[in-house]
Amino acid sequence: MEIQKNYSFDEFIREMTEAVERAKTDEEKVTLAEPLLGKLVQSASWLPPEKQTPNDKGYARHSLYHDPHDRFEVIALVWQPGQRTPLHDHDGTWGVEGVLCGQIKATNYLQVGRISVDTVKLRYTDTVIINEQATGQLLPPADCHILEVEGLQTAITVHVYGKKLQKFLIFDKSPDEEVYVTREHHVNYM
Ligand SMILES: [Fe+2]
Repeated sequence: MEIQKNYSFDEFIREMTEAVERAKTDEEKVTLAEPLLGKLVQSASWLPPEKQTPNDKGYARHSLYHDPHDRFEVIALVWQPGQRTPLHDHDGTWGVEGVLCGQIKATNYLQVGRISVDTVKLRYTDTVIINEQATGQLLPPADCHILEVEGLQTAITVHVYGKKLQKFLIFDKSPDEEVYVTREHHVNYM
């Protein structure tokens, strides 16, 4: 990857907009978006201090950009040591995620089927550590995960989703193997 320490957020948005205009499939969007996000997370200097504030109650969510045609949004999450998400999806959309500072552990699951209106089958796939300046991707049905801080340093992550993510599902383990009960969660921004 080409390293650009002075890659600006405006340039990232311009290139992301071109990418969603050019790409025909979600797979292509993710393939084009991930290296752009990879350039953006090489430096944290573009992220204003007010978008880096944590929340003691849980990871903080800051909106950074919403495409006027709702083709993508960009958010920053700020994680204090010990903070984590529940197991969740992304409302059917694609996504790319990058670590601006700190380290994040991602525990990934694949959606393998719906059992009823509020139960699904998920299969654990892998657990990965995403280091500073590294990226990962989400593409349904491989779009369910738990994210948590790895280590004792505050982490900041940047996420691009294929629409404004206003709600997502949280999955609670049932007594049956690979069977999870879903509940809808509505997103709050700081
Ligand atoms: Fe997520």
